[in-house]
Amino acid sequence: MSNDPPRIVAIVGSLRRDSYSGAILRGLQGSVGERARIEAFPLASIPMYNADLDGEHKPEAVVALKEAIRASDGLLIVSPEYNYGVPGVLKNALDWASRPGYQSVLKGKPVLVITSSPGTSGGSRAQGQLRQTFAGTLSRLVPVPEVLVPLVNTKVQDGRLSDAGSLKFITDAFDALLAEARRQ
Ligand code: FNR
Repeated sequence: MSNDPPRIVAIVGSLRRDSYSGAILRGLQGSVGERARIEAFPLASIPMYNADLDGEHKPEAVVALKEAIRASDGLLIVSPEYNYGVPGVLKNALDWASRPGYQSVLKGKPVLVITSSPGTSGGSRAQGQLRQTFAGTLSRLVPVPEVLVPLVNTKVQDGRLSDAGSLKFITDAFDALLAEARRQ
């Protein structure tokens, strides 16, 4: 087995420049350091899912997304909750990545889901829906309790998650993702 650090592709479920989800990812990257290669895949260029475009010549950004996931040892999702559910931009990207059904790049892929909210729920409803989606893609959800960051707006400084307790919580969960990734 290679001694290289596992390659983790990270998808943030918000396009907002000052996204708290992005701040969580940056905080986690700082905390994980050299133990993993975390590469963020931006969703801004992913078009709306259309099965007519999902043939031999897929949109360039979709090909890149699927290749990034395929080449990774694990997938990290960091997302807010929109209207008690998964933000459309994220669900749309997962729909692209999920084809062909039950045989996609998501099949068997270790996945960790982190959700957050400025509210007290920590995006728990989006978290539940994402877990359901990854059951549908036959992915390997990391066996940890739901990773939620409530009151996230009070836990970010200089554009990154700075709250020590939250950082430890998500880093421990991320270590469980690395353990799954090494089992691939
Ligand atoms: C929200 N927000 C929100 N928060 C929450 O806890 N539950 C919810 O259902 C919703 N719904 C919702 C819908 C829409 C359309 C928006 C724009 C926002 C608030 C949301 O958590 C907050 O704006 C976060 O800051 C968004 O995440 P980022 O962009 O900071 O990562």
